Amino acid sequence: MDNQRITKLRTEAGQKGLDCVALVPGANLFYLTGLSFHLSERPVLALFPVDDAPAIVLPALEAPKLEHAACALHPFPYTDEEGPALAFQQACASLELADARIGAEHLHMRLLEARYLERYAPGCELSPADDVMSALRMTKDAGELAAMREAVAVIEAALQATLDRLEPGMREREVAGTLMIEIFDKGGDGLAFEPIVVAGPNAASPHSGPSDRPIGRGETIVIDCGATVDGYASDITRTVAIGEMPEAMQRVYRTVLDANTAGRAAARPGVTAEAVDQAARAVIEAAGYGAYFIHRTGHGLGLETHEPPYIVAGNRRVLEEGMTFTVEPGIYLPGLGGVRIEDDVVVTAAGAESLTTFPRELTVL
Ligand code: CO
Ligand code: CO
Repeated sequence: MDNQRITKLRTEAGQKGLDCVALVPGANLFYLTGLSFHLSERPVLALFPVDDAPAIVLPALEAPKLEHAACALHPFPYTDEEGPALAFQQACASLELADARIGAEHLHMRLLEARYLERYAPGCELSPADDVMSALRMTKDAGELAAMREAVAVIEAALQATLDRLEPGMREREVAGTLMIEIFDKGGDGLAFEPIVVAGPNAASPHSGPSDRPIGRGETIVIDCGATVDGYASDITRTVAIGEMPEAMQRVYRTVLDANTAGRAAARPGVTAEAVDQAARAVIEAAGYGAYFIHRTGHGLGLETHEPPYIVAGNRRVLEEGMTFTVEPGIYLPGLGGVRIEDDVVVTAAGAESLTTFPRELTVL
């Protein structure tokens, strides 16, 4: 964590014609400052001008956190009684933001913050700064990769401990609960997302939640889970079965495994994100299941569970050493079940390394 990140932000923002970048609580603000705040009804807005010192509007009760920031931020605090208006007014005046071109997070800034800026920086133009931030965050440094490896170690240990206890008749929800406890027990700081545990016909919907349905023999059970360590996420999916899987699903399993292998093998510096998607998808299409692979092959992974680069047709982004993303092909057969196998990879100098190493062969419990 150092001010080099802010220096790079200024360069990237300046090249995009921005005068300032405004960030709300979340991964981008954490990346630059090491500070975590809640996105709540009390607005927090950090302002990074390209040619001035950074500033932050924040509730007075949060101000002590600034002592631990990785960079100096000129504070504009407000109390609950005052409300944030005056603090926004002073910050905008101090940074001379009238008529400025302000980069904001298209996916995160709310009307709340946008209206304050428009009011107290008259004539300002808000434009998306997501590209500026992802240019900084997409390739991970050694410290970030170390945290991701830890997050992977935690989730793989938690997954193994959960599988050791899996029995027919258990409810999907019970398995998800066990997994959550194990994530904390194995040293995770938190959940990257709420675990998905879906069995039998429920597994045919890739993002449905765990239900009270008991898990039956011979059903595929898709378990998708992740932990966070020092802010960084892991994200793994394995599909297992209790008892012998029907022949049709065994063929589906082998196809998804081959697609996962092909996707990981295609990842290396110089190829496009869409080429990795195509490598995995071609295997599934050749086996006749193309219509049942209903999502992209993967997504970037880091401080956020979904971030650039997205591994999807149409994304011509060229992969570089240090980029981290998932490879997670799946086949979903309505009424029957689903199979997904997801790994987290990092692009290396010559290829890609899978951070996740949990066995991929079908586990029959
Ligand atoms: Co996942
Ligand atoms: Co994922």
